[in-house]
Order: sequence, then C-alpha cells, then structure tokens
Amino acid sequence: MTHRTGPLSRRGQRRGQRRGLRRAERRHAVGWHGAWIGLLVAVGLAAGCGERTTDMDVQMFKARTVSEQTLIRGREAYMLYCVGCHGENGDGNGKAAEFLDPRPRNFTTGIFKFVSTSAGDLARDEDLLRTLERGLHGSSMSPWNLLDIETRKALVAYVKTFSDFYEDGEEGDRLAIAPNPWKYDPAGGVSRGRAVYHGLAMCYKCHPAYVSHEEIQDAARATDAPIPRAFAEDLYAEKIKFSETHGVDIRPPDFTRRMLRTGNDLEDLVRVIQSGVGGTAMPTWSGVLDPADLWAMAHYVRELNLMRGTPDGEALRNDLGIR
Ligand code: HEC
Ligand code: HEC
Repeated sequence: MTHRTGPLSRRGQRRGQRRGLRRAERRHAVGWHGAWIGLLVAVGLAAGCGERTTDMDVQMFKARTVSEQTLIRGREAYMLYCVGCHGENGDGNGKAAEFLDPRPRNFTTGIFKFVSTSAGDLARDEDLLRTLERGLHGSSMSPWNLLDIETRKALVAYVKTFSDFYEDGEEGDRLAIAPNPWKYDPAGGVSRGRAVYHGLAMCYKCHPAYVSHEEIQDAARATDAPIPRAFAEDLYAEKIKFSETHGVDIRPPDFTRRMLRTGNDLEDLVRVIQSGVGGTAMPTWSGVLDPADLWAMAHYVRELNLMRGTPDGEALRNDLGIR
C-alpha cells in the first residue's frame, strides 16, 4: 500500500523523480554496462525525438514508489521484448499488432483482464507478474519466466507507468479463494456447476448453453431461479460482445472449443470466475455466487474444457448444434 500525500507535495515528488531519473540515466550511460543501456535509452529518445522526450518523462515518474533504476531496467527490457506487440507508448499498437487476434493489451487504459481483485479495480503487481510468467494460452502472449525475477518485476513497474490510474490509485484488494468444498467429490462439483451454470447464474447469456431447453428449466428449478419459457436463437453460440475499454469485439469462449487464457487449473478458474475479466462483459461473480458454487463452476468449466478436441466434445456440440 502506498502512502498518499497532498497534491502539492506530490507534484514536488514527481519533479524530484523526473530529475532523479535523468541523473540515473546519465549515470547508467557511463557505467560499466552503460554502453548497452545508454544505447537503448538513446534509441528510445531518438525514436521519439522532440516532443516525445517529454512523454517519456511523464511515463516514468508516475510509478512513484519504485526507483529510477527499476524503471530504466523495465524500459530496457520492454524495448527489447515487448515493444513489437505492445508498442512504444504501451498502446498495444506495436508493429506486429495488426496481425494478432486477440490484439496485444493497450496499457494506457490501466485495465487488465486477468486479476485477483474485483475486475475494474486496479490490478495487483502479483497479477501482472503471474500473467508475465505464465503467458496467456491461446494468444500470442507467451510466458516470460526465463527473464530473471528482478527484470520481471521491473517490467511490471514499467508497464504500469503507461496509465494515469496507477499514479494516484491504490491496487485493489485480493479476493480470497476459499478452500475447495468439492475436493473429495469432484463429480458432485461438476453436477452442481452444471445446474448453477444453466440455472441461477445463466452463464449462457454470453457463453453457449450445453444442455437442452428442458434441462435448463430443470436447472432453474434446482437452483431456485425463475424458469425461462422462451430461449434466444443464439443460445448455443458464443455471443460476441464489444468492449469499450479494449476497443475490440470479445468472444465469451465456448469452453469445449477454446483454450482459456488463464488455463484450466481449478484454482485459476475460481480466480477468473470470481474476479471477472477486466474491461469485458465477463462480470465479477464474487458475492453473487457463494464460494461452494464458485468452485462448482470451476469444476464444470474444467470438465467442459477437457472435452476440447475429443470425440465427446464433438458429439456434445453436434447434438446441441453449438457453433
Ligand atoms: C507476440 C506479441 C506479444 C509480445 C512480444 C508480448 N505480449 Fe503481452 N500480450 C500480448 C497479447 C496478444 C495480449 C492480450 C491477450 C488477451 O487479450 O487475452 C497481451 C497481454 C499482456 C498483458 C495484460 C494481461 C491482462 O491481464 O490484461 C500484460 C501485462 C502483458 N501482455 C505484458 C507483456 C510484457 C511485459 C511483454 C514483454 C516481456 C509482453 N507482454 C510481450 C502479446 C504480446
Ligand atoms: C455478460 C456476459 C457474460 C456472462 C453472463 C458470463 N461470461 Fe464468462 N466471459 C465473458 C466474456 C466476454 C469472456 C471473454 C474474456 C476475454 O477473453 O477477454 C468470458 C470469459 C470467461 C472465462 C475464461 C477466462 C479465461 O481465462 O480465458 C471463464 C472461465 C468464464 N467466462 C466463465 C463464466 C461463468 C462460469 C459464467 C457464469 C457464472 C460466465 N462466465 C458468465 C462474458 C460473460
């Protein structure tokens, strides 16, 4: 948690940090490995000649709780490994970006998708670090766990400087993950999950449904939810949603067909389901579903995801006409 200061002193602090950063850059530029860093900083400065120099200063001082050395290290690694996709300004418009689906994240929004907080709250460092270390399955964001931990942390600090939100904001609280009540009864978890998915929670409002109309009505009865009498035409389809935040269409995945970005470990599924996915239609389910149902959801989604590419998965999709 960072200490909040008054606006005046904060401005002074920023000026101080900016000055400190320039000093640190000069120091590095003549240090023992200075030639390399100096070159990178010079490349960064030259690429953004003139007005862009100010930009760089602005970006740097926002992460006021980290040292200039860390930010320089972060920028150095960023310009080597990340810039091609995420862009020099962190806006997700690197050279490779137009060829990628999903598009690289635009860091200037300050909204991250895969967090342990309520989606929409500021991401925690541990969330960005987890994504950096594991990558996001089914996207071009690969794991960067071969970079040493100091570099990974510096990257996280640097990535946050692209957004104004991290200048003054506090990171969100981590939503606790309860122990798994279905640990010794996974089949019970799957079956409860199927009922909640198609009953109380109506996950099929965005993701496909995976049971018949009659079974949806049974699921509603079993979970004390209103019983639907009519069904949308796209019940068995992925209902694409436009995201204002990310500026792109986003697909609520068919779990029997898509790789899940955060993988299909039970605990990761609980986290992504209870937190929601930042800047997308996927809501925070924490507080809506109780912990036992969150875990049941995870069991069910994992079961569906394990059918990916199997004859069982194909059969289910064909039977229901899932597209
Ligand atoms: C080959 C392209 C590519 C490279 C290189 C790349 N990324 Fe990404 N990155 C992506 C894509 C694509 C996404 C978005 C995936 C999605 O929306 O599911 C992403 C998402 C992210 C996210 C957002 C996670 C979230 O929860 O929203 C972070 C943080 C991130 N990348 C950091 C980095 C860092 C740091 C580097 C350099 C070490 C890097 N990326 C290199 C393509 C790339
Ligand atoms: C209002 C629409 C909506 C509803 C309702 C909804 N989701 Fe989602 N969900 C989405 C969207 C959109 C994504 C895709 C996010 C992305 O890939 O950027 C998503 C993604 C997911 C993911 C994948 C996360 C990953 O790692 O890739 C899981 C798991 C998930 N939803 C589970 C559920 C469950 C379980 C329910 C019901 C309790 C539910 N969703 C209800 C819209 C919704």
